[in-house]
Amino acid sequence: MKNKINISLPSLKEAKLRRNVDVSTIRYIMNDKYDNLGKGKTYYIFTYGCQGNEADSEVMAGILESMGYVKSTDPMNSDLVLLNTCCIRENAEQRIWGVLGQLKGRKREHPDMLVGICGCMPQEEKATKKIIESYDVDIIFGTHNRHHLPELIFKAYESKAKVVEVLSNEGLILEDAPKIRESKHKAWVNIMFGCDEFCTYCIVPYTRGRERSRAKEDIINEVKDLVKNGYKEVTLLGQNVNAYGKDLGLDYTFGDLLYDLDKTGIERIRYTTSHPRDLDEKTMLAMRDCKSVMPHLHLPVQSGDDDILKIMNRKYTYAEYMSKINRLKELVPDISITTDIIVGFPNETEEQFQNTLKLVREVGFEGAFTFIYSPREGTPAAKMKDNVSLEEKHDRLNRLIELTNQGYLKGHQRFVGQTVEVLVDEESKNGDGMMCGYSKHLKLTHFKSNDKSLIGKIVKVKVTEAKTWFMIGDLVED
Ligand code: SAH
Ligand code: SF4
Ligand code: F3S
Repeated sequence: MKNKINISLPSLKEAKLRRNVDVSTIRYIMNDKYDNLGKGKTYYIFTYGCQGNEADSEVMAGILESMGYVKSTDPMNSDLVLLNTCCIRENAEQRIWGVLGQLKGRKREHPDMLVGICGCMPQEEKATKKIIESYDVDIIFGTHNRHHLPELIFKAYESKAKVVEVLSNEGLILEDAPKIRESKHKAWVNIMFGCDEFCTYCIVPYTRGRERSRAKEDIINEVKDLVKNGYKEVTLLGQNVNAYGKDLGLDYTFGDLLYDLDKTGIERIRYTTSHPRDLDEKTMLAMRDCKSVMPHLHLPVQSGDDDILKIMNRKYTYAEYMSKINRLKELVPDISITTDIIVGFPNETEEQFQNTLKLVREVGFEGAFTFIYSPREGTPAAKMKDNVSLEEKHDRLNRLIELTNQGYLKGHQRFVGQTVEVLVDEESKNGDGMMCGYSKHLKLTHFKSNDKSLIGKIVKVKVTEAKTWFMIGDLVED
C-alpha cells in the first residue's frame, strides 16, 4: 500500500460537539505557488447527494480552473477525478463504492491519474478507514476544507502518498472562492451551512458541522451580481434555511432576507430546505408579498405520527405541521407543497404508518421524496432495536408511493387549460422538437419548439396535458 500523510482523520465524537467558538469567515485567496499546478491537465467531478454538494462542486471546479485545470468530458480519462460524496443513506454510499471500484481498474492502467474523494462520506470514521485500506485514492478530504484543495493536490503530486485531511469541527464560512456554475440562468446560493437539529436518524449534523449563516451583505451582493450577469433564478440553500440568522444574534431572520432579496431584481427565488418547526409567519408573509418568491414550498414532514416524530426529535406534531400548512394555503392559495417522508423508522407500527398516509391525503402534497429508514452509524436511531421487517418496510414504501404519485398527477392536472410561465432549461431529452423548463410552481413543462435561443428565458406555455411526472403545453406568443 502507498504511504500516507495523515494531516487529520475524522472523529464522529468530535463532530457532535457544539463548542461555543466564533465561526470564522475565510476570504479565499489563491496562493501563486499553485497557479500552474493544473496546466495542461484535465479534471472531472462526480457529484452525489443534495444541492449543497452541487454548490460545493461548483466551488471546487472554480478552484481547479484557477489552477489551470480544464474540465474533461470523459471522467475515466481525466488527470484528476474528484468524487463529491453523500452518506445520507446506505444506498447513497453503495453507488460510490461502485465508482471507486471502477476507478481502481482505471488507475492501474493510468498510474498518473489522481483520484480524490471529498464531501460527506469521508466525514465518517468507518468510511474513511475503508477508503484508506481498500481503495486506490490519493486525496481524502471532507466538507470543511475544500479551500485546501490546491495544497492537498500539491502534496499528493509531491509526495506520491495518500493525503488525508478530514476536519471534524464546527466548520467555517468560505467567501470569495471562484465558482464555475453549471447553469447560466439558475444559480445555487448558500445562505447557511451545517445543521443543529440532530434529528435522531440523520448524519448531516455530524458531516456538515454547526449551523452558521453567511452575512446578509455577502448574500445580497452575490444575488445582485447574478442579476447583473443575466441570471433569472436563485435557489437559497441550507439544511434548515428557516434558522437563518439565529447564530448571528441580529434581529434579522430568513423572512427579512426574502424581502431584501426580492428588491435585487432577481426574477425567481426558491429555497430549500425548510424545517417545519422554524418556518415562521414572516417567511410565509414574504411568500405572499414578494413577487419573486415562487409559490412552491418543500417542507419535509418525515412522518405523520406524533410518537414517531418525537423519537425522531423533529419537535413538532401532526397538528402543528397542519396548522402551518393551513396558514400557508390561506396566504398563498395556489401554493404547491412537496415533502420528504421516511417509512420504517425503528418499531413503526402499521397504525403509525397509517397516520402518515392520513397526513399525506390531508395536505395534498404535489410531490414527495420517500425513503426507507437507513441506520447511520453514530446517530441515536442506529442504536434502537427494530422489530419491523425489511419486507414490511418495502410494502409500506410501495403503498406510500402509490399515494404520492397521485399527488404528482393532481398537481399537474390542476394546470391543464391554464397558461404558465416557464423558465426554459434545455431541449427535452425524450421528444423531438420539444423544449422544457420549470413553471413557477416547479412543474416540469415540455412544449413544442426547437428555438434554442429560448434557453434561459421565461416563456408562456398553455398547458394541454398532464402526466404523472410532467406537463405538456403549447408556446403562447406574446
Ligand atoms: N435538511 C433537510 C434534508 C436532509 S436530507 C431536512 O431536514 O429536511 C434529505 C432527506 O433524507 C430528509 O428529509 C429525510 O427524509 C431523508 N433522510 C435523512 N436521513 C435518513 C436516514 N437515515 N434514512 C432514510 N432517510 C433519511
Ligand atoms: Fe438532518 Fe434533521 Fe438537520 Fe434535516 S434538519 S439535515 S433531517 S438533522
Ligand atoms: Fe448527503 Fe451530505 Fe447532502 S450526507 S444529503 S451530501 S449534506
